[in-house]
Amino acid sequence: MTITSPLSFPKDFLWGTATSAYQIEGAWNEDGRGLSIWDTFCRQPGKIYQNANGDVATDHYHRWVEDIEIMAQLGLKAYRFSIAWPRVQPDGKGIINLKGLDFYDHLVDALLAHDIQPFVTLFHWDLPQALQDEGGWTNRQTSDYFADYASTVAERLGDRVKDWITHNEPMVAALSGHFLGEHAPGLQDPIAALQASHHLLLSHGKAVQVLRAGLPADARIGITLNLSPVQPASQAEDDLLAAQRTDAVINRLFLDPVMLGRYPQEAIEIFGPIFPQPEPDDLKIISSPLDFLGINYYSRAVIRYDADFPFVQGIQVLPKGNEYSQMWEIYPPGIYETLMRVWQDYHPVKMIVTENGIPVADGIDFDERVRDYRRIRYLRDHLEQMHRAIAEGVPVEGYFIWSLLDNFEWAFGYRMRFGLVYTDFESLKRTIKQSGYWFSQVIRDNGLKPDTSETYLPD
Ligand code: GCO
Repeated sequence: MTITSPLSFPKDFLWGTATSAYQIEGAWNEDGRGLSIWDTFCRQPGKIYQNANGDVATDHYHRWVEDIEIMAQLGLKAYRFSIAWPRVQPDGKGIINLKGLDFYDHLVDALLAHDIQPFVTLFHWDLPQALQDEGGWTNRQTSDYFADYASTVAERLGDRVKDWITHNEPMVAALSGHFLGEHAPGLQDPIAALQASHHLLLSHGKAVQVLRAGLPADARIGITLNLSPVQPASQAEDDLLAAQRTDAVINRLFLDPVMLGRYPQEAIEIFGPIFPQPEPDDLKIISSPLDFLGINYYSRAVIRYDADFPFVQGIQVLPKGNEYSQMWEIYPPGIYETLMRVWQDYHPVKMIVTENGIPVADGIDFDERVRDYRRIRYLRDHLEQMHRAIAEGVPVEGYFIWSLLDNFEWAFGYRMRFGLVYTDFESLKRTIKQSGYWFSQVIRDNGLKPDTSETYLPD
């Protein structure tokens, strides 16, 4: 598509990039960091592409000064990163490792010195292994430990960090980690997945309450959910119902309790006797009021009825004739559809797109440039669709690209490159890609200039 007139975004729109601790930091055994479930999971042969792990990752723990300089060079207004719980509390509870807190303290100061607004995510999947040994998220007590950890971090950073995200994608932590077994801790147990899901949500609510009580009044607190529009593969009754069930499990199982204080009836019916029985105040805690809802959008799910697939009885199909990335279908209208749906059905105070991005098999050209035009096109098309939602009145306050730099992509190891900055995983050298320069221009313009498919690519 081409853009015929300029698309401007609201004043003070927050343009940023996102990362997470395990995916970039490395330094897995330094300065008192405890083990996380991802350290353990990566050591099990066959779980990760080429048996890679995050021991070194992008070595951000040692290169953060350079990384912040790159962010400043790009002109980022905001940066979303996560805190590694096992750096702060090596055993997940009790003893606090001051060196771990120092790392984030320095990071925050340097971001602020460059006028980059820090967005802190408290949990991006790297649960301390010591807590996993006691059941991890299947253990209700983990929700209390999480609230303690949240208040420890808030005490240290709360005088400077204004934007707080409790969890990143609890759906993925619960389902990929406990039902599909593709992520740590690698369980394939639907009961564990549902317990984990409830306790993750409960820990979110408890953390919101301690953060609210401990942080200055101008702090903003939210959660990040990954959402996908779910569409039926055909108009046949079976497909329509399978799509509805899938939506109830991948979207509403998280949106409804957080935003409305109840679990969706469909999900309760789908899981029947194994659905968790919340304790009396749980849903009230889970739905503690938020200042914003973070949304990660990558793609949609087109679902066909399949009696063999447990619970939802539906499987994802890949519609023909569409473009695909290395991981998903490319479907830009989905970001518009998601923002509209969430706004209409749940009315959050504000929304922030906390992740959007695409893996591209990038490489460095002869002249040291990385011509990732496919990424530019993806981002541009999604910005255009996000702009449509904003123009129709949806309060979107910011947009974060996943990711600042190529990093450890979970079960895909280092195979998927999501960065605006290329990482050479041998030398750890960083090279800004063409998409990075392009995004920098978007930030300067606070929007998109008119372009044609021939002219918008920067060389
Ligand atoms: C997620 C996480 C990121 C991923 C990204 C690409 O959404 O899964 O927040 O850690 O790396 O989404 O898959």
